Amino acid sequence: MNPLDYVHVNRSKWLDELKEFLSIPSVSTQAEHKPDIERAARWLRDQLQAVGFPKVEVMPTAGHPIVYAEWLAAGPSAPTLLIYGHYDVQPPDPLDLWHTPPFEPTIVGDDLFCRGASDDKGQLYTHVKAIEAFKETLGAPPVNVKCLFEGEEEVGSVNLNPFIVAHKDLLAADVAVISDSHILGKDIPAIVYALRGIAYVEVEVTGPTGDLHSGIYGGAVHNPINALCAMIASLHDEHNRVAIPGFYDAVRDLDAGERAALAKIPFNREAWLKEAGVSADWGDPDYTIVERTSARPTLDVNGIWGGYIEPGAKTVLPSKAFAKISMRLVPDQKHAEIARLIEEHLKAVAPPTVSVAVRNLHGGEGAIVNRDSAAIRAAFQAYEAGFGVTPVFMREGGSIPVVAAFKEELGIDTVLMGFGLPDDNLHAPNEKMHLPNVYKGIETVIHFMTTLGAG
Ligand code: BES
Ligand code: ZN
Repeated sequence: MNPLDYVHVNRSKWLDELKEFLSIPSVSTQAEHKPDIERAARWLRDQLQAVGFPKVEVMPTAGHPIVYAEWLAAGPSAPTLLIYGHYDVQPPDPLDLWHTPPFEPTIVGDDLFCRGASDDKGQLYTHVKAIEAFKETLGAPPVNVKCLFEGEEEVGSVNLNPFIVAHKDLLAADVAVISDSHILGKDIPAIVYALRGIAYVEVEVTGPTGDLHSGIYGGAVHNPINALCAMIASLHDEHNRVAIPGFYDAVRDLDAGERAALAKIPFNREAWLKEAGVSADWGDPDYTIVERTSARPTLDVNGIWGGYIEPGAKTVLPSKAFAKISMRLVPDQKHAEIARLIEEHLKAVAPPTVSVAVRNLHGGEGAIVNRDSAAIRAAFQAYEAGFGVTPVFMREGGSIPVVAAFKEELGIDTVLMGFGLPDDNLHAPNEKMHLPNVYKGIETVIHFMTTLGAG
């Protein structure tokens, strides 16, 4: 039997195993799920051992553990592929908007619904099963493989960078591959060549030292929520551009050639509006929606709170107001510099009646990968073989900060070989993975590894 036939006959068994993996609620941001994170790491370890990896380790970090595995079966003359994925997931909230329980994998038609189905357990799984297919048919994978599966991607990978720096020899490889992004449509495979970076801060505005009666003090004491709203309003100008001085200084402009190529990517405005659930788009009028969502930097308030937010009315002039603000960045913006600029700006526009503290939650650099490498050509052919369609090149608006770290610390490029779909509901209720994409994904990975191994 060849590896592709092996995929075919094992589909239903593998689906059961994937459901088992998905049913572990490995939510990285919530302390009460720490045991589930550890269970997911052990599940992966057992799975990697079962598919044949001779070396598998759950390696502790200051946060959640890293699952590392290696199988250097192809010998020193063959290339080494570093596979990255994350086994942690976003919280399932808001729970009442799920049609099925978030951690009970449920199949509806061709879709598998569960938190983590697409981001990233279902995608990471394609690599594990591709390797099992090689093991069971040819004895071993055709390239040397190293797996780096982390449990903190959804919370900013704060312990991953130090891990990479401390284990450069262990992680040495020729190229990395990550399946944690999406393609354009069921039959429109895509290779992502650029990701945005991110800078994430939390703002705390303090007015009076304690909560006050709004009837007794209102009108003479500045309300910190009112002040914060005005400060937030100052973050964009009338053209919907970010108004923080210096924000665009380092932005690498899009050249005419790239803009023309992005304009050719299949894009249906009506379908996009429907997918987003909005009646009109918004943003910088000088750029298209595709450019604005992938190649231009942004600023969004992710949460805002303070005062009384329980049911009913309470008259209070609160002591504090908070907001979480993230900025998606493009090369060559540096997240540390951008975090500094927003702090400076917020402090400059804050009225003297309140005090402001800005905390840096996390940051990561964006990345652009070289589109003209042997590995990208192999990925291109692999998608053609796996999906029967030529892939398109696209930029992605989300962030996978490890791509920049691999370049910086290990000197290697990354192939972003995603199998998700734009309507997979990542980070939202009713996350799903299109099952045919799991199987085509496994086949694509098999083709990719075969081509890489053949040199
Ligand atoms: N899988 C996503 C990144 C992604 C999203 C790729 C959409 C392609 C399309 C990843 O798990 C993610 O959500 N990353 C975070 C990173 C952040 C916490 C540093 C993100 O982009 O918000
Ligand atoms: Zn992800």
